[in-house]
Amino acid sequence: METQMINLLAIAAIACVIAVCFMIIRRVSSRLQHESRAPAGLSDPFIVKPSIQLGDGTGDFEIVFAGIGEAKDYKLRVYGDRTGTIDCAPASSYPVNVPDATPAIPVHRVFRVPVKGLDSGEPFVYRINFQANQVFNASSRAPVGVGEKSRVIVTGDIAKWGADERRIASRIFAEKPNLLALVGDIAYDQGLLSEYLGKFFPAYNADEAGEAMGAPILRSIQTVAVAGNHCVGRPDTMSFPDFGQKPDHFGYFVYWSQPLNGPIATAAARAYGPDLVGPKARKDAILAAGGNRLPRMLNFSFDHGDAHWVVLDSNQYMDWTDPAMRDWLEKDLAATTRTWKFVMFHHSCFHTSRKHQDGVRMRLVADIFQKQGVDIVFTGHVHTYERTFPLKFNIKRNSENLLVDQFGRVDGDIVLDKNFDGVDKTHPDGVIYVTTGAGGAPLHREAMPEIWQPQTAKAVSGRHSLTVMDMYGSKIVVRQITAQGEELDRFTLTK
Ligand SMILES: [Fe+2]
Repeated sequence: METQMINLLAIAAIACVIAVCFMIIRRVSSRLQHESRAPAGLSDPFIVKPSIQLGDGTGDFEIVFAGIGEAKDYKLRVYGDRTGTIDCAPASSYPVNVPDATPAIPVHRVFRVPVKGLDSGEPFVYRINFQANQVFNASSRAPVGVGEKSRVIVTGDIAKWGADERRIASRIFAEKPNLLALVGDIAYDQGLLSEYLGKFFPAYNADEAGEAMGAPILRSIQTVAVAGNHCVGRPDTMSFPDFGQKPDHFGYFVYWSQPLNGPIATAAARAYGPDLVGPKARKDAILAAGGNRLPRMLNFSFDHGDAHWVVLDSNQYMDWTDPAMRDWLEKDLAATTRTWKFVMFHHSCFHTSRKHQDGVRMRLVADIFQKQGVDIVFTGHVHTYERTFPLKFNIKRNSENLLVDQFGRVDGDIVLDKNFDGVDKTHPDGVIYVTTGAGGAPLHREAMPEIWQPQTAKAVSGRHSLTVMDMYGSKIVVRQITAQGEELDRFTLTK
């Protein structure tokens, strides 16, 4: 009996040792994968592997990548299922030379390759040769057109190179969306180039899909990005991008290529111009890499399938009482003939989080959303999921006769459509605000029912999740799911 007990204890001890060894190997392996995906060496053709982006309108979409070569070194060929072969070339490239970065970032160029001529929704393969050697291939689908079914995923507040972020990335890839929309705070903590290279790209453009790896999302799924506060060197309300502290700010403007069809806000011209702090040489290097995207690429619009999307800059420096910005927003939303109108910005302006009740300055343009028939506003910033009832917001001046105070608070009355249930009653009277900021970063745990606000229809905290929206012409179905695919919420809208 005693011998049997000793044997059992020995087996248990060996099992424990094996389990501990396995955990150590997994952690070391994950770490090594991460390190091996940090900025590439000079022998690699890519510093940043290709991604499918909206582009600036030169093509129907763009394939964007970065490398140490010249434009003549890279040849890109697209093979459409129906259209056949299309040879493409970079429309432009620009150098990225960040002085004083630690660890050093190799001098590289970003290449933008517009693609035109595929049928809407057409599957295609693309291959890239570097100095006559094929170095990359991936597949994707051309953007869908009017009347075509589409799946869009929205999520935000993502990349710290954490396990949760990689699990979410793996789920996004498995859901096979036509479009991925990232509602800001993409690479923590400040949206530095080094943070894009070390945290975001390794997870969102991994060579293989897997919960521990991330997934090859960017190379195969068209992705649009919103600039959150952590994207522009402003991790909290008191901080600002200081080139004396970090030389590689503004990865957003360097690595994304998105429409430039919006105005430059007066406030942004100041924030990204004379108000920038730090050594001139460092600032000039990033301003050169950002080119005409910096700061214009903060507010823009685009069409996807049956929907018109508007992307707005909700950062603290913005002034959304600015008549020029309000006028642009109103006219842009009024001009579209698409069935659905969606707006995205980073800072949620209707949510339960006690920590973020300031910073709701985007309520300043709620009247325009209502008047122009916006269906859903998607936001992040609060690391939870939350959906409001359809609502209309009537702004009121505060006790100091201001529309917005210095903390970004905006007073007003909220009128709710509680008849809408998203199941049988699917015609909302008002705008639905969806906060979907549980995309990978550590979670906020403040959405329990006892603190729900009157406008809260559904809120889930403590679970990482993403929004999946299926669009079928005059009907859309929106689901909130976890990384494991568990459904947390669902509602339907019809026209
Ligand atoms: Fe944020």
